[in-house]
Amino acid sequence: MKYFLSLLLLPAFCAAAISLMPMPAKIVPGQGALPMNAMLRVTVAGYSDTRLESAVERLATRVSRQTGIPRIHRPSDALPALVVSVKAAAPDWPTLGEDESYELTVDAASAQLKAPTVTGALRGMETFAQLIVPAPHGFEIPSVHIEDHPRYPWRGLMLDVSRHWMPIEVVLRNLVGMAAVKLNVFHWHLSDDQGFLVESKRFPKLQQLGSDGFFYTQDEVRRVIAYARDRGIRVVPEFDIPGHTTAWFAAYPELAAAPGPYEIERYWGIFKPTMDPSNEAVYTFLDAFLQEMTALFPDPYFHIGGDEVEGSQWKESSAVQKFARDNNLANQAAIHGYFNTRVQSMVKKYGKIMVGWDEVLQPGLAPDTIIQSWRGQTALATAAKSGYRGILSFGYYLDHLRPASYHYKIDPGESLGGEACMWNEYASAENVDSRIWPRMIAIAERFWSPRETTDLGSMYDRMESVSRQLDFVGLEHHTYQEAMLARIGPVEPLRVLADAVETAGVQSRRQAQKYSSLIPLNRMVDAAHPESEYVRQLELAVKRGDVETLKAALTIWSQNKVSVDELQPLSINLRAAASIGLEMLSYIEKRQTPPADWRARQTSRLDAMNRPIAELYLAAVRPIQALFEGRFVIN
Ligand code: ACM
Repeated sequence: MKYFLSLLLLPAFCAAAISLMPMPAKIVPGQGALPMNAMLRVTVAGYSDTRLESAVERLATRVSRQTGIPRIHRPSDALPALVVSVKAAAPDWPTLGEDESYELTVDAASAQLKAPTVTGALRGMETFAQLIVPAPHGFEIPSVHIEDHPRYPWRGLMLDVSRHWMPIEVVLRNLVGMAAVKLNVFHWHLSDDQGFLVESKRFPKLQQLGSDGFFYTQDEVRRVIAYARDRGIRVVPEFDIPGHTTAWFAAYPELAAAPGPYEIERYWGIFKPTMDPSNEAVYTFLDAFLQEMTALFPDPYFHIGGDEVEGSQWKESSAVQKFARDNNLANQAAIHGYFNTRVQSMVKKYGKIMVGWDEVLQPGLAPDTIIQSWRGQTALATAAKSGYRGILSFGYYLDHLRPASYHYKIDPGESLGGEACMWNEYASAENVDSRIWPRMIAIAERFWSPRETTDLGSMYDRMESVSRQLDFVGLEHHTYQEAMLARIGPVEPLRVLADAVETAGVQSRRQAQKYSSLIPLNRMVDAAHPESEYVRQLELAVKRGDVETLKAALTIWSQNKVSVDELQPLSINLRAAASIGLEMLSYIEKRQTPPADWRARQTSRLDAMNRPIAELYLAAVRPIQALFEGRFVIN
């Protein structure tokens, strides 16, 4: 079978930098490059099936978008090709621990992708697409030999769709992004205090009264699962019980440990409403519910949440307290343990293995349970000591808005792998991509690549390069910003300011105001990035001693004027910092030492700018401070 994309052979003129992420297990650069200036033909040799065919078709589109080279449908057999040789089908559904390995060889004449299974070929095709780089006369693929396989079998992204509704398009495009960086588990957090977001045919009031009217129909769920399967991604649903369940009680208050009525929660936090573990009707309800949902989701793993049980409803309920005494349940943890054991036996009856947040780790838990560690890495070690398999999420909370370098240093150690978590109290469908990407790419590398892949400079350079390519798979982590800024006011000065700031972490947001699902996320803090690539480039310019680049940026900053009330102080600080930077730069250029008192005054002014304003940090201060730290040496 032949697929016709685009490729034309031209003499190779230079070997471009290889910018892959995640970094393959083994990579041997070769001489020269395969030019990619027109048609690329993809030939499937050996085993093929519809999953492989659609992956090849997607690769064609991807390459065409990424290069701007149009796809044509009557290619010449004479053109060189990417030859995909697969030995056998992948498991019918993406499976924990399946073979994902592949080998890719590119030389000046052609490219060969070999994999034991279709899943390996999927991973290899993503590598192939990443290898395409701009060259002086178009595009090319550097000659290279790659042998690759993942370090961990569980490489996930958790998406919370309850705090802010995430339409199916958001889910689908993030699945494409996940596949692009070889992630293989989509953990779908489908219910919480603020919403129950999936259609139950058995208990339709769950989505009718437990949501604002937006939820995924079962057909949509099946569409997401099929879309993920095509990309070698498992879908693990989470229905968080017994806490985080206010939305269930909006529909069925009788499930709660305290009388209702209840409404879906609008605020963020840990709330009292909790299922009643002493009420047999709760288990009858859950059994029917789990029967329905375990049939809807084909993956053998099923997440029951289990985090942050607030406890006061149990303490205050005489029925729960009597139940605890009658069953020798000494405390809240023991009651929770009892509840989990009951739920686990139902999950098992329906053929599934239970996954829970680390609070579920209590005596009596079935040995095949997977513990998702979020409160610290010790839970992972404790679980392992007791023989449980674990996945790490502590350190991978994307909603905390920490830099990629922070996440990159966290290692899942002896576990199945990890999951990055995107909780969406402070993100909406409009900007969620920018809270996941590009930092997710760095975490994906930690999950896939050899442990020794740790160089931060290389990581940031490659992350930026892959992040730019992800624009062509449909992610909106760059494109969202312009429209959001233009909505706030005149876009030019806002864009300059947006590039000079970084969002403060989740703590700042929690303290800033009493946020709720009804407060719009339409301010600069929602438009700005968690990390400024623009500022990083200027920090690199300082290291290079690149006066021209710095002067140009500082000059633009020194003229920034934004009139939005909450942003004025930031804009004023940006102008002031830039003026200080320009002055320091002129001392450096003249090879003069600035007066000590001037220097002391300016450094303390810069230090004072290092506090959040409007939930934003002025990242622009960093390269200017670096000038004062003597890191600048003119070339
Ligand atoms: C969690 O962050 N409550 C799992």
